Amino acid sequence: MKPSRLLLSIPLAFSGMLAWATGNLPIYQDETRPMDERVEDALSRMTTQEKINLIHAQGKFSSAGVPRLGIPDLWMSDGPHGVRAEINWNDWGYSNRTNDSITAFPALTALAATWNPSLSFEYGNAIGEEALYREKDVMLGPGVNIYRTPLNGRNFEYMGEDPHLASVLVVPYIKGMQQNGVAASVKHFALNNQELWRGHIDVNLSDRALHEIYLPAFKSAVVDGDSWTIMGSYNKIRGQHACHNDLLLNKILKEDWGYKGVVMTDWGGAHDTREAALYGLDLEMGSYTNGLTSESEFTTDDYYMAKPYLALIEKGDVPMSTLDDKARRMLRLNFLTAMKRNKPLGSVASPEHYAIAEKIGDEAIVLLKNASVGKKGPKLLPLSENIKNILVVGDNATRDLMKGGGSSELKVKDNVTPLKGLQAIYGDRIKYTQGYRAGKPMYSNVEKIPQAIQDSLRDEAVSMARNADVVIFIGGLNKNHLQDCEAGDRIDYSLPFGQPELIEALQAANPNLIVVLLSGNAVAMPWEKKVPAIVQGWYLGSMAGKSIANVISGKVNPSGKLPFSFPVKLEDNGAHHFGAISYPGDSIRQEYLEDILVGYRWHDTKKIPAFYPFGHGLSYTTWQYGKPSASAKTISENECLTISIPIRNNGQTAGKEVVQLYIGDDQASVLRPLKELKGFEKIALKPGEEKTVSFTIKPDDLKFYDDTTGSWKAEPGKFNVYIGSSSTDIRATVPFELK
Ligand code: BGC
Repeated sequence: MKPSRLLLSIPLAFSGMLAWATGNLPIYQDETRPMDERVEDALSRMTTQEKINLIHAQGKFSSAGVPRLGIPDLWMSDGPHGVRAEINWNDWGYSNRTNDSITAFPALTALAATWNPSLSFEYGNAIGEEALYREKDVMLGPGVNIYRTPLNGRNFEYMGEDPHLASVLVVPYIKGMQQNGVAASVKHFALNNQELWRGHIDVNLSDRALHEIYLPAFKSAVVDGDSWTIMGSYNKIRGQHACHNDLLLNKILKEDWGYKGVVMTDWGGAHDTREAALYGLDLEMGSYTNGLTSESEFTTDDYYMAKPYLALIEKGDVPMSTLDDKARRMLRLNFLTAMKRNKPLGSVASPEHYAIAEKIGDEAIVLLKNASVGKKGPKLLPLSENIKNILVVGDNATRDLMKGGGSSELKVKDNVTPLKGLQAIYGDRIKYTQGYRAGKPMYSNVEKIPQAIQDSLRDEAVSMARNADVVIFIGGLNKNHLQDCEAGDRIDYSLPFGQPELIEALQAANPNLIVVLLSGNAVAMPWEKKVPAIVQGWYLGSMAGKSIANVISGKVNPSGKLPFSFPVKLEDNGAHHFGAISYPGDSIRQEYLEDILVGYRWHDTKKIPAFYPFGHGLSYTTWQYGKPSASAKTISENECLTISIPIRNNGQTAGKEVVQLYIGDDQASVLRPLKELKGFEKIALKPGEEKTVSFTIKPDDLKFYDDTTGSWKAEPGKFNVYIGSSSTDIRATVPFELK
């Protein structure tokens, strides 16, 4: 059981009071002293064994402090969409408390779809407050692994396919959280881009892909966001496990980026004591488990960074300086979090937090398609107020989508399902039928639903659809194994549980069909042409139903934009184009053969259109992009370029638009994507209102990673700036030249 924080703080408070009384507060306890001085002071008082105790777990989600010195233990929790329910001290079971339910915030893909950094700050801050109330020091998130394939079971926990978008959004999340004295743990560093074989698959890729695509969001998280911890990933990178990887942790993270924080393993991510000692790991968690379910007879004293590490030091096989460096980092983390004295008390499941969850949900929902039924008439959405008979169909309309999915699973206090949200607006004009059944969420196991049950559910839905004025189908994926769930990838790209057939049958029975997809991944849509209105609704947490109903009813004008591309078919995605060695690998090794052409970079450059492109998202109003102006036609190497463009809300409804700026390098000695996102701004405009949006293009925005010199470089020549409402809906192009 967790000893109470109060008990822990008694010796600390006592020694503190004594010290105050004698005017002799130990340096490490004196918060007015510089951090480095405090850390050195504490370190100088510690035995080798006490240092060793700091750098490995003592329970599933805790690492030890220094009890003799009053330095408290650290408590952690998943992450990244809310504070997870309490887990037992040393097994994966939930401890069945009644005081650990919380607010579930929208999944990170949804946050990314808002394209709104200030919402990201509110998100991080709100989770920081909930973590404080739950007495957590470190939250295991956010995740910024790049969306490489729609099959990755964990994409819903990440921020999409574009490094710039993920970089801009991750920083405020971390700052919002850490201002509470709660550390973020940005994860999983790096290249954990699939769950299949995640524990050992050896990822091989070019330096350019590494630096241009997969590292920038982590770099922003630690350099600009100052994330106090970072979690290594399970996989190998160029033959060495990511949790003790010389290139990644020593060279890039600690040397090049100057990282001062703690590198922790993913749960069970350490594999070797000497490598852990030498190659950049600071804290070992969850060893001898599979990260999710399995237990072991080993105690935490057997961890690689426990007794075996001490033995290496005592033999002189690794220097004491390696241990001191790790202990210093752990002390600093402790002083910033657990040992910080003046912290707010936090709050949990408050009206304010639900309001933030709803606001993020409102801005995350992406209107993929909105047409009228037949040739004439209004578009199907927003749903007319006079509508009488509404049929809601679908398992996801009533499902608790916070259950399952792996370590991000949450126990929520309040949960407004889509059905409840719609009922709150349309009352008893709504009828509901399940339509298909998805079964229970289970780790590593799938509940088989007999075909006869699916057939009868479908038949009932189709017959009810005939008598409705409009049908709202709420389906998609869910958090079951082999769907959007950790420790496994999706098996294929289509919608599961017979949904494609169900959608077609519903449409044949009633053409007034709205499809709402809840998922963290793109899915195949062979039925798309027949369906007039399609909404991407993500996993929106506690207030999901409210946000979905807000958008369907028109109370909220949708403003979300896709943070990743929806390819027509799997082979149209760059990672899948090159066959099994590229994804999922041969079970030992894999090669990222699409290289830097991830997501829209691939679709654009190879001229393979996506079904719904990156950045796409419709509105209930229309946006007019005016004539852009540029501060210069030619710039030199160190000069910035300013581009301005007037945007007007041309319709009848107030709304928000994400103005996107991409840059393409037309004359380069190396392959460059047709264009890359380098700026965006979300603006709110009333009907008829106009605003000029300005972007500053900096010299770094023109550079590629030159793998012959290991540095960033821009080549003189012609560039294009593309400004648009999505990556393919480009409204203005501005050419310029770099001298
Ligand atoms: C996951 C991590 C998570 C950890 C602790 C692992 O299985 O990969 O993201 O933070 O477990 O639950």
